[in-house]
Amino acid sequence: MATLGLDVERGMFLGIDFGTTNSVISVYDFKEGDVHTIPIDGSNVFPTAIQFEIDLEDPNKLSRIFGIQAKEAAIIYPESTVLSIKRLLGSGQKIKIQVEDKEYEFEPEQIAGEILGYLKQKADEYVQEELGIAGEFSGCVITVPANSTDKQKKMTKEAAKLAGFDEENIYLRLEPAAAAISYAVNERKNKKVLVYDFGGGTFDACILNIEMDEENEPNISILSTYGDNHLGGNDIDKMMMDLIYEEFKNMTNGEIDLFDLEVDDGVSKRQKKTALVRLQQVATQAKERLSTAKSTKVVLAPFLQEPKMININMEISKEAFLHHKRVNSLGDKPEIVEKMEGKSVEDLIDKTLETVDECLKAAALQESDIDEIFLVGGSSAMPRIHEKIKEKFNKDPFKSKMSPALSISRGAAYYCNMIMMPTVRGPIVHEKTIHPLGLEIAGRRFMEIVEEGLDIPKEGLTIEADELLTTNFDHVTSMAIVVYENTKPSGTEKEKDFVYQEGMKRLAGTSLRGIPAASKGEEKVKVIFHVGQDNMLKVMAKSMSTDGVETELSVDELYE
Ligand SMILES: Nc1ncnc2c1ncn2[C@@H]1O[C@H](COP(=O)(O)OP(=O)(O)OP(=O)(O)O)[C@@H](O)[C@H]1O
Ligand SMILES: [Mg+2]
Repeated sequence: MATLGLDVERGMFLGIDFGTTNSVISVYDFKEGDVHTIPIDGSNVFPTAIQFEIDLEDPNKLSRIFGIQAKEAAIIYPESTVLSIKRLLGSGQKIKIQVEDKEYEFEPEQIAGEILGYLKQKADEYVQEELGIAGEFSGCVITVPANSTDKQKKMTKEAAKLAGFDEENIYLRLEPAAAAISYAVNERKNKKVLVYDFGGGTFDACILNIEMDEENEPNISILSTYGDNHLGGNDIDKMMMDLIYEEFKNMTNGEIDLFDLEVDDGVSKRQKKTALVRLQQVATQAKERLSTAKSTKVVLAPFLQEPKMININMEISKEAFLHHKRVNSLGDKPEIVEKMEGKSVEDLIDKTLETVDECLKAAALQESDIDEIFLVGGSSAMPRIHEKIKEKFNKDPFKSKMSPALSISRGAAYYCNMIMMPTVRGPIVHEKTIHPLGLEIAGRRFMEIVEEGLDIPKEGLTIEADELLTTNFDHVTSMAIVVYENTKPSGTEKEKDFVYQEGMKRLAGTSLRGIPAASKGEEKVKVIFHVGQDNMLKVMAKSMSTDGVETELSVDELYE
């Protein structure tokens, strides 16, 4: 058996790709200088799923089932199973589950914490039992989508804390940068690489610059990143579900609405819920089969038993699937329905390519400047994506020997090594600020404080605004501090910036209160921005007069 050179003395760090659909954990082997993916319940890819049950020993307690078993249990117990929790982190939405007529409520980060806790426990057991290493993982690098909000990042950190990792040893890093590391470890040429990551819930595009240093080690920096936090394999599943649901509506003359649990159409709530979960699972399977087959059979027999037996048995071709335009709301929220109605899988793929265009524009690059396209994420397995990328870039995407599902977690494990052993040679990621950050000042103007592309050192980047802010009126005792990010492509003119211009994103706002009442312009306020290596921003504002007051806000606080 392989012996992993994990080093208890230095502490043990786990690299975690916490995905919407699947999670993967890897560790860095100090002896081999290589990364190992830890199998969980017999597989490298762990479905991010949890199911609750009443504890057999104590009926007042809940017990938990994780991963593939939970995912499969969702068919029978949809109301006590939670899938795709990552989508809800930072949303403020509560998770309601029902176990044998009892209702329970959780915060999304609690659910995510339970799942991460299970992954940690499995990793701990693996090193102790399989490798005979005494110790447990106290730290981790968790990857987050490139354009996740600070709130989502904060909640991811919170979940890791709940899972039992030491707070000061939880590091967040960007998914595409992690993917880039796993690409760059074997790379010895200067290159510009597009990371195209199409997962279960999100799409991310990221352009990286890889440059060899004097010691011929790859140095990676992010040139630009764009993403869609609500576009993924789940949405493609819905296209397939829609196609099957149309068949169901034809068979039942539209008399049964599976998505309306309250309407009395002769089908029980329970039957509907079970039918929907089965529909979802069969749709995912059919979709995945169409990545290798021209056509596939979809069989749901029986689909419903009461009030009459409904069997679905249909043949779906790849062409029909790619071009079917969605017509049903499928229980989605109005804003999602609006986004997806009338759209086809082709349209969704085109949408990912529009995001790629934004990313190219922001880096002031053309398609022809890109040397390599690295496909990451389960949904990237669709051959239509390869074709469209080839059409666009005039070259085939990079063919990796490694499964695209594992590269982010492996990159996270390399990151662990970098954090613990900063002197060891290997790929280096230069964390940089992605977009300019600043404040709204008089006349709705944007005052840039942090430039884009600045190196973020280990301890974070602290920048004081060049100018002090002053009060605009006599005797005011508070001042609005409103933080903006300028997401406008860096290649464009920026001579007059106003906060209402396209590309300006309001990140947060607060008021500095308790400023001494004085004449207009007399009171001065100093503003300091701090950007951490995980790209999280903190803003501090301080009144400069003798009994100065201070305020501090992290960007998520007043976001939205
Ligand atoms: N062969 C395939 N063809 C098409 N889609 C596939 C294939 N294999 C996996 N998928 C899809 O990939 C998605 C899961 O991808 P992945 O595991 O990369 O997502 P994730 O990391 O959980 O999500 P995210 O990165 O958005 O948080 C699922 O929607 C799955 O159906
Ligand atoms: Mg992913």
